[in-house]
Amino acid sequence: MARDVWHSRLGFIMAAVGSAVGLGNLWRFPWMTSENGGAAFLLVYLGVVLCVGVPGLLAEFVIGRRSRRSPVGAFSSLSDSTLWRVFGHLSVVIAVVLLSFYSVVGGWILRYFGASLTGAYFSNPGQYFATVSYGLDAVGFHLLFLAITGLIVVRGIKRGIENATKLMMPAVVVLLIVLAAWASTLDGAGAGLAFYLSPDVELLEADLLGILPAAAGQALFTLSLGSGTMITYASYLDEERSLAADGAAIAVLNTCIGVLAGLVVFPLLFALVGDAGTGGPGALFVGLANAFVAVPYGRAVGAVFFAVVSLAAISSSISMLELPVSFLVDEYGVSRRRATALFVGVFTVTGSATALSPGLFDFVAGTLVDLLMTAGLIGFLLFTGWVVGQNAVTEYELGAGAVASALSTPWLYAVGVVIPVFLIFTLVSGIAA
Ligand code: PHE
Ligand code: NA
Repeated sequence: MARDVWHSRLGFIMAAVGSAVGLGNLWRFPWMTSENGGAAFLLVYLGVVLCVGVPGLLAEFVIGRRSRRSPVGAFSSLSDSTLWRVFGHLSVVIAVVLLSFYSVVGGWILRYFGASLTGAYFSNPGQYFATVSYGLDAVGFHLLFLAITGLIVVRGIKRGIENATKLMMPAVVVLLIVLAAWASTLDGAGAGLAFYLSPDVELLEADLLGILPAAAGQALFTLSLGSGTMITYASYLDEERSLAADGAAIAVLNTCIGVLAGLVVFPLLFALVGDAGTGGPGALFVGLANAFVAVPYGRAVGAVFFAVVSLAAISSSISMLELPVSFLVDEYGVSRRRATALFVGVFTVTGSATALSPGLFDFVAGTLVDLLMTAGLIGFLLFTGWVVGQNAVTEYELGAGAVASALSTPWLYAVGVVIPVFLIFTLVSGIAA
């Protein structure tokens, strides 16, 4: 059977933006920001998105489209050395680690959608989160989220992922704009915007090295970079068009939607709760639940908000599942149906483990993911710069405009040398910390 391809260029971009925009923007970002110095963190994070994110996305796109294979096959088809194949397998491991906690948070979101409608958390939001976040309940909702993800992936690239994200992403954007407009009218919204948008320069100078690993990790996380999901998505491209414009468009859209999400979350938290909420992965849930309790029509507003987050989360989780599925399909000729079923089985177990253990969850969702994605991206970049080399430039240039062509050689140096050195530095300081 012929390998599936995207129906249209726009479909590919929607799917990639769908992968990028997700719980990273809405939940992990506020969590990491409050743990790493507020707006100073935001600055470093934006710097990494710009200087590492865009060139890095292009590198993953080049590897994917040139090989037309899942990451494991991509490395072995573009090079004879077995050394590089390690990075292909690493990407499968990273995808497994990612979905193992992502689907637990996805489960919390689905639960909060229902609980907003019924008002279940309205009497005591703090206690509500404490009772539902870990344990058998959490396992149940994780399985529901995983089942939805599996049902989309099993339908394939065009009929499943492309069709789903083409509907979901516009809905996410429209609803976020409506929510942000509404949030800006709340009393006290200004304090939230100030916290979000004005960096503390002194803190930045004092502790740049301390926040760097987490900020870089978060930048990769939000762009789905370093895990191989973007290699996988680009492997389903069949048009010979320039990748440069697509990479930039995806990074810009993700950043804009991320900022938009902040314009909803921070005013709500400041206007109604009084601060950004600190204290681990649950802060956002408790803070927002408190806010929805206090506003008029809180149940409806809360339901709309959590519906948006669910759509954003599902359009990301499908990219995490697609990677290992494409690996079995491409490398072992397993049917998509079987491969999906097998990995849903794997995630049933691994996700349940993180849903039962808060300590494991914190470690996996924070430090482990930052380290693995940084390591993965270092491998992908070195491979692009040194193995694919001049061919990468040809691939990326196909039909490119004058600006993209002029940038192609500096780009090759950036991905081959400068960015890997920076990321290795980040990795080392992260491990040392
Ligand atoms: N970028 C997604 C988010 O911000 C998470 C993700 C990471 C998705 C890695 C795929 C791969 O929610
Ligand atoms: Na998403």
